Amino acid sequence: MRLILVGPPGAGKGTQAVFLAAHFGIPHISTGDIFRANIKGETELGKLAKSYLDSGNLVPDSVTNDMVRDRLTHVDTAPGFLLDGYPRNVGQAVFLAEVLLKNSTPLDAVLELSIPNEEIIKRLSGRRVCRNCGATSHVIFDKSKVEGVCDNCGGELYQREDDKEEVIAHRLSVYAEQTEPIIAFYRELGLLNVISAVGDVSEISTNAVAALK
Ligand code: AP5
Repeated sequence: MRLILVGPPGAGKGTQAVFLAAHFGIPHISTGDIFRANIKGETELGKLAKSYLDSGNLVPDSVTNDMVRDRLTHVDTAPGFLLDGYPRNVGQAVFLAEVLLKNSTPLDAVLELSIPNEEIIKRLSGRRVCRNCGATSHVIFDKSKVEGVCDNCGGELYQREDDKEEVIAHRLSVYAEQTEPIIAFYRELGLLNVISAVGDVSEISTNAVAALK
């Protein structure tokens, strides 16, 4: 299964990606997670990416495209992959199409998680992320057992810089202007499946698997 998950910030892409990657036995490739790991590790890529992530702007395509092309050469992508957060504009979508054509590994599907903006703001402003393992929780919808402590590994939970309210608004406008056009791009190719991202996490996972059959 070669799959792209698309949807606005906070739609639940990361949450559903963990389930879908395990379900299909494929790696979950999140460009946001790769950037955050590099920022944490203080690598050159991380130093370059930090100001873009903190402000909610896209990292330049010249950096992101090469990073994804390289990731798709790893042996774990032989059975397929789930791309989460990439492509994020039409230029990236065209670049990816060229890479996949060259590798003779066509996409199977694109799954769009559809959600209204009001719900997004509630989700992102309450999201907490583990500094150690990257697991995501929510102060209301998916509370950790001990406040501020990750259920998964005991690490410290923190609020992403780009989950502050003023940055959320900017990320939503970047999504509308730059990312939404890829939905029409994939619809034209007959690859697009759309499901609602509102409801219980497990119910959405069930609907996602059904849409991908
Ligand atoms: P990225 O990390 O990709 O962020 P995003 O797309 O903005 O998505 P999020 O991680 O915010 O949300 P999500 O949809 O994964 O939701 P989640 O499952 O966590 O990108 C960050 C930045 O990196 C970008 O702004 C850019 O700077 C850079 N970047 C990344 N890719 C790039 C690219 N291709 N090109 C250039 N730059 C790039 O859920 C959100 C919250 O809701 C959680 O707290 C969760 O617990 C909760 N939740 C989930 N599902 C439900 C539910 N059903 N009900 C209630 N709560 C729920």
